[in-house]
Amino acid sequence: LQAQTSVVISNDVDAPVINRNIYGHFAEHLGRCIYGGLYVGEDSEIPNTDGVRNDLIEALKNLQIPILRWPGGCFADTYHWKDGIGPQEDRPTIVNQWWGGVTEDNSFGTHNFLNLCEVLGAEPYLAANIGSGTVQEFADWIQYVNHSGESPMANLRREYGREKPWGVKYWGVGNEMWGCGGNMTPEYYANLYRQYATFMTNWDNETGLYRIASGANVDDYHWTEVIMRDVPHHLIEGVALHSYSFVEWGDKGDAVDFNEAQYFSTMQTALKMEELVTKHSEIMDKYDPKGEIELIVDEWGGWYDVQEGTNPGFLYQQNTMRDAMIAGVSLNIFNNHSKRVKMANLAQTVNVLQAVALTDGAKMILTPTYHVMEMYKVHQDAQLLPVEFDAPEYTFEGESLPAVSISASKDSIGVLHISAVNIDAENENEVEFDLSGFDLDGFNAEILVSETLQDHNTFDDPEKITPSEFKDFKFKKGRLKMTLPPFSVVVLESK
Ligand code: AHR
Repeated sequence: LQAQTSVVISNDVDAPVINRNIYGHFAEHLGRCIYGGLYVGEDSEIPNTDGVRNDLIEALKNLQIPILRWPGGCFADTYHWKDGIGPQEDRPTIVNQWWGGVTEDNSFGTHNFLNLCEVLGAEPYLAANIGSGTVQEFADWIQYVNHSGESPMANLRREYGREKPWGVKYWGVGNEMWGCGGNMTPEYYANLYRQYATFMTNWDNETGLYRIASGANVDDYHWTEVIMRDVPHHLIEGVALHSYSFVEWGDKGDAVDFNEAQYFSTMQTALKMEELVTKHSEIMDKYDPKGEIELIVDEWGGWYDVQEGTNPGFLYQQNTMRDAMIAGVSLNIFNNHSKRVKMANLAQTVNVLQAVALTDGAKMILTPTYHVMEMYKVHQDAQLLPVEFDAPEYTFEGESLPAVSISASKDSIGVLHISAVNIDAENENEVEFDLSGFDLDGFNAEILVSETLQDHNTFDDPEKITPSEFKDFKFKKGRLKMTLPPFSVVVLESK
């Protein structure tokens, strides 16, 4: 047992609100995320709503999923949205050049996605094709989904069965333009962005368009610098950032069969997110001291070798307690950086990378990551409460990481929530909170923990890892004391 950690949580109402979009998701035409995951088709025997499986709809609704990004990813810069509207027999096929070279029939298109978002109560976030599309194609997409009057695209939408525009606010101007989006320099992309953004018309969408520039790969600070410097600020609302967690990019290792060295490396990359959002935010502060342009982490999560026997292009992997640790620390980082970070999208929703659900025919399981997202949903739109502490160390073979990660918030009815993670693979950690600034009667708490870091839910044992009541804490005279077991996530709620 390490020395006790003292944490002060201040009741600071000047702190920013935690944007609910930090709890966002990302669904790409990749492997079995859309086809065979979310979308099974209307004729499927699996119970569905307009082709989308009902068990998954319920699971995502339960997460209060605030926003969903689609159709990519790398796929976005190959996607021609007009191929996915109108009668199925007229829709051309598309070969998914990035992910497994499979041929898709374009049966899941704009209407399917936007209607699904309505069912989920989630905001859609459309990532448009800049790499291989045209300005006209992009402008037409906005007109198709957002224009309410007489116009060529609005009339086409009506012809295909939708009278009312969907009012899509969030638009990605390309994806990973430094890589699969076109291998561009930031200077070239900044110019292209200016051109595309000029033709993004806000039609009659009352909330306005929210334009997101394709952002940096991990610590490419020059990218953020150029976007912030070269794009006129009236043309942009958000700048993206992508960063994944892995053992080594060239040798990712198995999703389940990993050792502590591999776990430690994965947590090093996950915790690097703290440095990344800090440094990208500092650059944004320099060009935008008022904080009008927001940081959008629209791809994050763990990335391992694909499950043996599955298509290498499908990125199907299991999800263990290691992933619960990634989710817990990443969401705490985003919460604590709420001043600049206004959206984050976990990659990806189902059957791909760090998924919240996995499917096998009619069966579906929820992953440890799902349970973390569910436990943390209480932070959505809540007032962030600044947390101060010196984290104890998790040491492995001479290297160390902060073992404990914490964020806290107060919701609209004054309920306090604290999420605490102990990533240490071996040691429990004792934490004492000074809550003297609050008037509280006590806490209820939940914990996600398991016997081994490699534990995971399977189709035969779907509830091996689920949250349970956490009792190992004491609350007296404004002081909350608790012991966090090794690799655990705890969320407390004040009474
Ligand atoms: O999420 C998988 C891929 O990772 C996305 O398509 C791409 O944007 C990123 O490189």
